[in-house]
Amino acid sequence: MDLGSGIRLRPLRPGDGAPLATAYRRNRAHLAPWEPARTEDFYTASRQTRAVSHTLREVSVGRSAAYVLSDDEERIVGRVNLSDVVRGAFDSCHLGYWIDATLTGRGLAQRAVAEVARRARDEWGLHRIQAATLLHNAASQRVLRATGFSEIGCAPRYLRIAGEWQDHLLFQRILADSPS
Ligand SMILES: CC(C)(COP(=O)(O)OP(=O)(O)OC[C@H]1O[C@@H](n2cnc3c(N)ncnc32)[C@H](O)[C@@H]1OP(=O)(O)O)[C@@H](O)C(=O)NCCC(=O)NCCS
Repeated sequence: MDLGSGIRLRPLRPGDGAPLATAYRRNRAHLAPWEPARTEDFYTASRQTRAVSHTLREVSVGRSAAYVLSDDEERIVGRVNLSDVVRGAFDSCHLGYWIDATLTGRGLAQRAVAEVARRARDEWGLHRIQAATLLHNAASQRVLRATGFSEIGCAPRYLRIAGEWQDHLLFQRILADSPS
């Protein structure tokens, strides 16, 4: 799907390990405050290739959905993932995303999250998506509010981000409630 600014949203695929490692190296400082602490190994093509294989296995059994944003040189410049899909009475999953440091502020995250949420509702029949942001991640909170998510509370010491267990704002979107 075309997201504008020369950027496409497409499913993660085998072969994305090396371009993902390059993207994570390029965005190391940009992502560090918002993600778990990474070992040096994380930035290698071999580690990302293993991670891609693992994620694609999760996708194949319906536990995840994984997308990348790519530019016209096939560089990976962002990700949107749905993980921990639980069916039955919950029909819910978790959302994660990032956008390359050079491409923020153009509405790419909002358009990509909106499209993945649409697929979660229309193609997978999910009921709910949950997301969590650090209390000071104003840009991410803006993305969520702009794409139909509502704040549902604050979870103390919820995720270990940048090496510290940190409080998070929790958001959810009930998919059937939103027309777009
Ligand atoms: C959060 C992130 C994904 C946003 O991506 P993006 O493509 O720039 O997002 P968009 O352009 O779609 O929307 C960003 C919105 O936040 C606003 N914004 C940006 N920085 C802001 C700030 N410091 N304070 C308040 N609002 C801010 C923008 O103005 C925009 O809102 P608008 O459309 O009403 O103008 C990107 O900054 C990123 O990758 N950050 C690091 C990783 C991360 O935080 N991931 C999410 C973890 S929960």
